[in-house]
Amino acid sequence: MLKEERKFAPPAELSAHANVKADAYERAREDRLGFWAEQARRLSWETEPTETLDWSNPPFAKWFADGKLNVAYNCVDRHVEAGNGDRVAIHFEGEPGDSRSITYAQLKDEVSRAANGLIELGVGKGDRVAVYLPMIPEAVIAMLACARIGAMHSVVFGGFSADAIAARIADADAKVVITADGGYRRGKPSALKPAVDAAVSRFDTVEHVVVVRRTGEDTAWTEGRDVWWHELTERQSAEHTPEAFEAEQPLFILYTSGTTGKPKGILHTSGGYLTQASFTHHAVFDLKPETDVYWCTADIGWVTGHSYIVYGPLSNGATQVMYEGTPDTPHQGRFWEIVQKYGVTILYAAPTAIRTFMKWGDDIPAKFDLSSLRVLGSVGEPINPEAWMWYRKNIGHDKAPIVDTWWQTETGSMMISPLPGVTATKPGSAQTPLPGISATVVDDEGNEVGNGGGGYLVLTEPWPSMLRTIWGDDQRFIDTYWSRFEGKYFAGDGAKKDEDGDIWLLGRVDDVMLVSGHNISTTEVESALVSHPAVAEAAVVGAADQTTGQAIVAFVILRGSATESEDLVAELRNHVGATLGPIAKPKRIMAVAELPKTRSGKIMRRLLRDVAENRELGDVTTLTDSSVMDLIQSKLPASG
Ligand code: WT7
Repeated sequence: MLKEERKFAPPAELSAHANVKADAYERAREDRLGFWAEQARRLSWETEPTETLDWSNPPFAKWFADGKLNVAYNCVDRHVEAGNGDRVAIHFEGEPGDSRSITYAQLKDEVSRAANGLIELGVGKGDRVAVYLPMIPEAVIAMLACARIGAMHSVVFGGFSADAIAARIADADAKVVITADGGYRRGKPSALKPAVDAAVSRFDTVEHVVVVRRTGEDTAWTEGRDVWWHELTERQSAEHTPEAFEAEQPLFILYTSGTTGKPKGILHTSGGYLTQASFTHHAVFDLKPETDVYWCTADIGWVTGHSYIVYGPLSNGATQVMYEGTPDTPHQGRFWEIVQKYGVTILYAAPTAIRTFMKWGDDIPAKFDLSSLRVLGSVGEPINPEAWMWYRKNIGHDKAPIVDTWWQTETGSMMISPLPGVTATKPGSAQTPLPGISATVVDDEGNEVGNGGGGYLVLTEPWPSMLRTIWGDDQRFIDTYWSRFEGKYFAGDGAKKDEDGDIWLLGRVDDVMLVSGHNISTTEVESALVSHPAVAEAAVVGAADQTTGQAIVAFVILRGSATESEDLVAELRNHVGATLGPIAKPKRIMAVAELPKTRSGKIMRRLLRDVAENRELGDVTTLTDSSVMDLIQSKLPASG
């Protein structure tokens, strides 16, 4: 087991003024439902709920079921009514360098116009609207406009293909699609509408396609069906009275890729989802809406964008940065330039980005003033301890605490994370279930492991922002999450508890290797490799092996100055052996230029396993760049 002894106390100043202090754990432990009822009062309800949880028909939960609220009103109008209409909600930074700041008062007008526009197109309560947009403010406005009128959005990531859009439109039976002519990507306009046209032409159920003009490039047009966003919204009134809906009114569907089979439409509802998104954003980032400038670098097409660009921050009245493009356009310091420009205080990013910055070198962030940063977040994958240390030192200047937040599309919001004013943080560990959350690690039989033990991560009590079902497939919901261990939610992640009882995530259980009868986590071997100064990134897979069952095969990206040699490979093998034990030594190590990643930045180990086992590659359609696999395969004969 990887031994990690570094530990960092929370900054005294932050602790003294923290939004949430240590007593929250105790309060929640004594009365979990009372704790969540108290958090629900963060929101404005038209009818206050008297009931907290209805768990009479597990695993189908109802939270705050007799309460009524409007989600968009909570994210926009109430801040204007409280006198904060002039506060900036969104500082938008386009990739070509255009920028635009939108206040809460302006956001209220824009959301109201868009809501009236959707109503004109015949969209009403319970209808589904697909959203396929770049990272521009209209994406936020479109989502909130749907929420405002009780329609459900289904956001499809702007990098997905026509097939992926079509599958999602069909599954949700969407009536309207909101898209743009295109967006900017790596210094060039990149068209979006052609993929929507190709997808929509397969159905006669999509009544309208609303098109935001972003790039101004020529766009094919279907008369009667297509509508310009600006024409639709400019003719509407900026007044729209939000209607209160039941707490369990569906808010959105978001599809998870899933490793096999058809994508799962994860269904989230209103009151419980917004309660937990709002509470966790307030607690985990210690957000002070009057002074903080918050930036979540995720795309709106992922759940991170839903909960921590739209619903969490806006329900809390935050001022945030929204950036359209890639981190290296026009230069590799773009993120740090943005932090400096807006005085960003809270940054939420993914390990894959952090490792990329590490590879680009310390001198790049060093050229910018990052002294405003006071809390740093990580999400999406286990963060390797060395990447964590790099983030702390080079971005947080050894003072900003790092919150490593574990959660999933299905959980809706954060579940396991340090609290920045409470937790002494450990590099690489999400550590502690948040107040009100019950998570633990169990063995194969479902028995809770003690400290020092490992197994599967489970959630043992329902939580407010839990998925309510898989859209249209209750049985799949039961089978996927609630059948592996009786009465517990199975997250699909391997995990261990250290001697203090802190939780370490070890990656998806499908990625755990079995070598000579030992379970070895890909995450741990990758972290051991990344802790060597020559390695920037690593991906590890188990390949079928006649003697050991599976053999460990590692793909590494070397840091700038290092070159591949037999000596280096031997050194890396020994380094892993010394860090984790001889059983964890990779059998083969190959240096590669890039690793195959999904569009959300997760390494696709399945494809690397195909390479390592000399098999034909499986489905590569969710890869960011499929030429990466050709490069890796072309290396094969020479290595070993
Ligand atoms: C899976 C969920 C959570 C929003 C973005 C991803 C992995 C996520 C962490 C973390 C270790 C993490 C898990 C999880 N994951 N955050 N802090 N430490 N692993 O949402 O696409 O639904 O993926 O991402 O494997 O199950 P998602």
